[in-house]
Amino acid sequence: MSSCIEDPCLWSPGHRLSARASNDLQFLSLILPWRPSFKLSCCSERSPTPPQLDIASMIGPRGMACAGGLLARVGSRSVISRAVRQSSPLRPLPATATAPTTRWWRAQYSTRPELPKEVTINSKTYPVDAEWFNVSSTILNLTSRKLHLQKDHPVSITRQIIESVFPSPTYLSYNNLDPVVTTHENFDSLGFPPNHPGRAKTDTYYINSTTLLRTHTSAHEAELFAASKSPGYLISADVYRRDEIDKSHYPVFHQMEGARVWDRNTVPNGDIVAAVHRDLDALPKHEMIIEDPNPPFHPERNPLQPSHTPEEAEAVGKHLKRSLELMVAEIFKRVKESHARAGVKEQDEEPLKVRWVEAYFPFTSPSWEMEVWYQGDWLEVLGCGVSQQHILNDAGVPNQIGWAFGLGLERIAMLLFQIPDIRLFWSQDERFLGQFRGVEGDLGKLRPFVGFSRHPACYKDVSFWLPAGSTGAAAAGGKGREGGEWHENDLMEVVRDVCGDVVEDVVLMDSFTHPKTGRRSFCYRVNYRSLERTLTNEEANGLHERVKGEIVGRLGVEIR
Ligand code: DAH
Repeated sequence: MSSCIEDPCLWSPGHRLSARASNDLQFLSLILPWRPSFKLSCCSERSPTPPQLDIASMIGPRGMACAGGLLARVGSRSVISRAVRQSSPLRPLPATATAPTTRWWRAQYSTRPELPKEVTINSKTYPVDAEWFNVSSTILNLTSRKLHLQKDHPVSITRQIIESVFPSPTYLSYNNLDPVVTTHENFDSLGFPPNHPGRAKTDTYYINSTTLLRTHTSAHEAELFAASKSPGYLISADVYRRDEIDKSHYPVFHQMEGARVWDRNTVPNGDIVAAVHRDLDALPKHEMIIEDPNPPFHPERNPLQPSHTPEEAEAVGKHLKRSLELMVAEIFKRVKESHARAGVKEQDEEPLKVRWVEAYFPFTSPSWEMEVWYQGDWLEVLGCGVSQQHILNDAGVPNQIGWAFGLGLERIAMLLFQIPDIRLFWSQDERFLGQFRGVEGDLGKLRPFVGFSRHPACYKDVSFWLPAGSTGAAAAGGKGREGGEWHENDLMEVVRDVCGDVVEDVVLMDSFTHPKTGRRSFCYRVNYRSLERTLTNEEANGLHERVKGEIVGRLGVEIR
């Protein structure tokens, strides 16, 4: 099927959303000028986990919200050649007028492409390992963009507003840390188990078996606990995740990590509790309504760490929560002011409401997520908790105790500026960038983004059989990779490679298992819609043919 329509409905009725997709849609529906109306047919984020799943390994660098996406595990067969093929350059199109056949595309991929022996990222060179390397040149090119440091870019403005709530000398900011880290820094040092699904090649960009593009800013926690000259630090940086394609997911985005410690050796009388309370009392007050029904810790759900006293954990948790409440109060104050300036009518005039929800992260305990009531919905804003003591011990500062948090800067920037599509952040179009000029120097100029013309959607479907023997367990929404070597993220990667930012989203429409052969087939709908210009149908057709060819060649599927 192929169609181009002006005013698309985002979701076909009955399409089952993953828990994360529904959360993200809720988020988007808050900021989109044209609120999509859809019925959430999935269970809630906090619905009971199926008993056979190991919670601790489900929830990880992507936090609670994407636990489902992390469940999948890559199969081992033919992964080596796939890793090579997936990072290969695009193959040529045939010089004929007709669409190339499956056989033609297969032939194109019958020889292994040359892989570089090394890659250079931000002037450092790393050896490439063919078994692991899966970083496309599209992604490599984005490593130099550093939107969080680009003057007057909304990501950078958002970073600065948050930094202003965590002033020096208590907090120092580290905004230039290299995106290439070790598996130890990204996972092991933080307590991720060896079989954690977030480590899979389908989820993470690897350069070699021990070197990757950081999936989160927490990768630098240990390093900064060891080296920071201040009791608190903030890290802003680009992070990388192989992911689905839609308006709130992009394989590169920006996070901010924050942490604050107290040292038993330097606080008066070694009394951490008194020191934390003094610092808490010195923090400004706010007017927000806070819903926090949670105990300071809970033996099963949110345990106290053995090396902390209950009073210490409680005091640190209180300081953490108040600090983050102040941060969110500042953001939403700016949102309100900008709306007033632009004459945007607030959907609700209620005071800002925040709630704390228990969470799990391998690197904090107890842990929480903060949610904000914004225009009629609870919106997840960040994850945080009392830092696992082993991280501080391993960093050589066993006398310190403290907290940490992590948040996505794009998500906050989308709210702050009413930016409806995450691809816009990468736009070099003056119609986008020009709207934020001068804001960094004068936040009084902050106004909601005004979308430039909305271009028509152009939907094209692709149906294919998985390679024989592939179960496709992971295909539907990225769940359950056990035993199968197909993963939806590989398809997403091909689409991004071929089409760049011209694709708005890719949605699974249908899946089918042949009753006799047991072979699985999938149908995905690709929405070709540039943010910057109208695509012609021919152009979209050309891209679509190429996507089909590349998935045949790289992923071994058979087009139906
Ligand atoms: N690293 C987490 C993520 O990417 C976010 C996070 C959660 C960071 C809790 C923290 C924390 O420091 O305490 O989803």
